[in-house]
Amino acid sequence: MAEKTNRTGLWIIGAWGGVATTALVGLLNLQKKLVQPVGLTTELPEFSDIEMPAWSEFVPAGYEIRDFSFEKAANELIEQRAMERSAVTPILKELAELDTRIFPGFLANSGKVVENMADRKREENLTPRETISAMQSDMKTFVAENQLSHLIVVNLMSTEPVCEYFSESEIEKLPEAEQIKRGREWNNWEAFRQLLDSSEKPPVPASTLYAVAALETGFDFVNFTPSLGATPPALEQLAKQTSARFFGNDGKTGETLMKSVLAPMFAHRNLRVMSWVGHNIFGNRDGVVLDDPHNKATKVTSKNHLLEQILGYAPQTLVTIEYIKSMGDWKTAWDHIHFQGFLGTPMTLQFTWQGCDSLLAAPLVLDLVRLTELARRRNFTGRMDFLASFFKSPIRVEEQSFVRQFEKLEDWLRDEKQFQN
Ligand SMILES: NC(=O)c1ccc[n+]([C@@H]2O[C@H](COP(=O)([O-])OP(=O)(O)OC[C@H]3O[C@@H](n4cnc5c(N)ncnc54)[C@H](O)[C@@H]3O)[C@@H](O)[C@H]2O)c1
Repeated sequence: MAEKTNRTGLWIIGAWGGVATTALVGLLNLQKKLVQPVGLTTELPEFSDIEMPAWSEFVPAGYEIRDFSFEKAANELIEQRAMERSAVTPILKELAELDTRIFPGFLANSGKVVENMADRKREENLTPRETISAMQSDMKTFVAENQLSHLIVVNLMSTEPVCEYFSESEIEKLPEAEQIKRGREWNNWEAFRQLLDSSEKPPVPASTLYAVAALETGFDFVNFTPSLGATPPALEQLAKQTSARFFGNDGKTGETLMKSVLAPMFAHRNLRVMSWVGHNIFGNRDGVVLDDPHNKATKVTSKNHLLEQILGYAPQTLVTIEYIKSMGDWKTAWDHIHFQGFLGTPMTLQFTWQGCDSLLAAPLVLDLVRLTELARRRNFTGRMDFLASFFKSPIRVEEQSFVRQFEKLEDWLRDEKQFQN
C-alpha cells in the first residue's frame, strides 16, 4: 500500500552537469507549480488515477568532481538556448541552498578526459572497499540529517570507458581458470564482494562503486548513462538481498528512441533493412568526453545493438558521434536507412532529429525517480524491467521495441503483482 506522506532523498551523481541541472531546475519548478508537465510520462492523463509520489516529496543532493554551482551551470544552459532565464530566476535561492548539498565525488577508471576535468575529487589511493564505505557514510548521513525514508541514487555523470576488467575481448586473452573466476565474479555477489574487498585498486569504474554503495545500503540505483553501473548480475543478487531496486542503462532520448520506434515498422512490414547509418553531432561537455575514443566506445555500443534484436538479423550499421563545439547542447542526428522493398527494389528513409540534449533527458530522469519510488511503495524489489522504454540498453531485457516496452510500463502501473520478480 502506498504511504500517504514521505520524503525521499534523490542523490544525483554528476550534479552540476547539463542533464542533472536541467532535471533539478525542472523539479524545483514542478515543486513550485511554475511549469506545465510537458514531456513527463508520469503526468499523462491515462495515469491520472494512479497515486504517484508527489514532486514535493523529493529532497535532492549529490556528488560532483568539478568546482561549479547550479547558477553557473544554469547560465551555461541559458546561453546555449537550452532553457529560458524565467525558469531559473524564481528558484535561484533554492539552487544556492542545493549547492551546499553537493559533495566532492570519487573517480575510478573514469578515463583521462574526466580525470583532467576533476578539481573537486575526493581522497585518492583509497581501496575499493574504503571508497564504498565513504560513499555509504555520505548517503546515510544525508538520509539521517534530513529524516528521509529512503534514497534513490541516479547516475548522471560523464560516460566512462568500457570496463577492461570485464570486457569480453580482454577476458578471451586470459587462461581458462582466470576466465572462470571472472565469470563467477560477474554473476555472483559473494565473489564480486570478495573481488572488491581484496583489491588495492578498483577493478571496476566509479559508476559500479556508486551502485554497490547504494544497493548494499538498501538504497536504489538508476543508471542513466551507458557506463557499467549495476549491470553485473552479481549486483542484481545484491539488490534482492537488500530489497533495493535498480535499473539502466543509458537514457533513450533521441536518435535511439527513433530507432526503437521505426525498426519495428520495417520488421512488421517485412521490409529488409540493408544498412542503417546514423551521424550525430553536438557540442556540450558530454560531447567533449565522448570525443575520447575510450569513452565513445561505450556509447556507440549502446546506440547500435538494438537493431539486430528488433529485426532478427544484422544490417550493416555505422554510428558516428562527433563533437562540434558551436552546437552547444543542441544535437543533430541524421539517419540514412537503406532498405529493400517488394521485388527487391531498394528504397531509402532519411530523418533528421534536432533536439536539445538536456531538455530531452531531464523529464525522463524525473519520471524514473518517481516510478522507482512508486515501485518501493508497492514493495517491488530487484530489476525494474518495466522501465525498459526509458533506456537504450535496458539491463537483460530482450524486447527493444519502444511501443512494446511502453505497454509493459502500462501493464505494471495497472497490475504490478504480475511483475514481482
Ligand atoms: N540526452 C542526453 O543528454 C543523454 C541521453 C542519455 C544518456 N546521457 C548520459 O548522461 C550523462 C550526463 O550527460 P550530460 O550532458 O549532463 O554531461 P555533463 O558532462 O554535462 O555532466 C556530467 C557531469 O558528471 C560529472 N562527473 C564526471 N565524473 C564524475 C564522478 N566520478 N563523480 C561525480 N561526478 C562526476 C562531471 O563533472 C559533469 O558535471 C552522460 O553520461 C550522458 O552520456 C545523456
